[in-house]
Amino acid sequence: MGNFGSGKSHTAKAIFKFCLHAAMASFEARKWPGSAFPTCHFLQWPEVADEFGARNFSAMTDALETALLVIDDVGAENDPWKVCADKLCQILTRRERMFTVLTTNIQAGEWAEKFDGRIADRLFRNSVVVDLTGVPSYSVK
Ligand SMILES: Nc1ncnc2c1ncn2[C@@H]1O[C@H](COP(=O)(O)OP(=O)(O)O)[C@@H](O)[C@H]1O
Ligand SMILES: [Mg+2]
Repeated sequence: MGNFGSGKSHTAKAIFKFCLHAAMASFEARKWPGSAFPTCHFLQWPEVADEFGARNFSAMTDALETALLVIDDVGAENDPWKVCADKLCQILTRRERMFTVLTTNIQAGEWAEKFDGRIADRLFRNSVVVDLTGVPSYSVK
């Protein structure tokens, strides 16, 4: 959680790449039993929101099932009909005991109002919130 330019997407992509490479390396080194090594997916939430708006829900399958899901920029989507809010709630409910990394510009105190109460509840449950409030934009350094 943090302002524009504080490095949220940068960090989210780095986590995704690190985990993807680690999973592939352990699989190639045969350190992973069987063929089901952990999968990782990265979703740019505003883009996914546009797909949902066009009634394309194909991103949901991976979002529900992948071992690690990284969702970038929640709250920046255009979601007049609250379709995305419903889908996000479904994703977070299903992923309660799975690894999920999510970035947002919205302050934690506003999650219930901006998203909805159920989403805020799931974001606070069994989670770690990294507060980047006050971190200046990387581009002004
Ligand atoms: N630790 C870092 N090292 C190098 N570049 C960074 C770092 N953090 C952010 N940046 C760069 O600064 C810019 C803004 O970061 P970004 O992750 O897009 O911010 P946010 O998603 O919080 O708006 C991007 O061009 C990004 O690559
Ligand atoms: Mg970003």
